[in-house]
Amino acid sequence: MHRLCSIDDIPEGDAIGVATPDGEVMLIRQGREIFAYRNSCPHLGIELNFMPDEFLDTEKRYIHCINHGALFQIEDGLCVFGPCNGQSLTPVALKTIGDTLWLENAQA
Ligand code: FES
Repeated sequence: MHRLCSIDDIPEGDAIGVATPDGEVMLIRQGREIFAYRNSCPHLGIELNFMPDEFLDTEKRYIHCINHGALFQIEDGLCVFGPCNGQSLTPVALKTIGDTLWLENAQA
């Protein structure tokens, strides 16, 4: 397994990006619940952000593509507005041990 970070490294209600052997993963925290997706838009396969850790819209209700203004639901990664409407971000399986988040199925 690959260690991602501590839960407390993710600000409550916000997101961070973490490098992995397979590319960057975005981690969004809502209380003790963590949502994780590949930082890759389903329609172009490019990163959603320009600035590090800036994945959410200004109200922090949706994951946001800075390139096109697309909005994705935090809880399931479904695009509800924008050019990839109806497509979804790729979820990433996490394992939580204590306060540490691990990437499942990673070699490193
Ligand atoms: S790259 Fe697909 S919505 Fe921006």
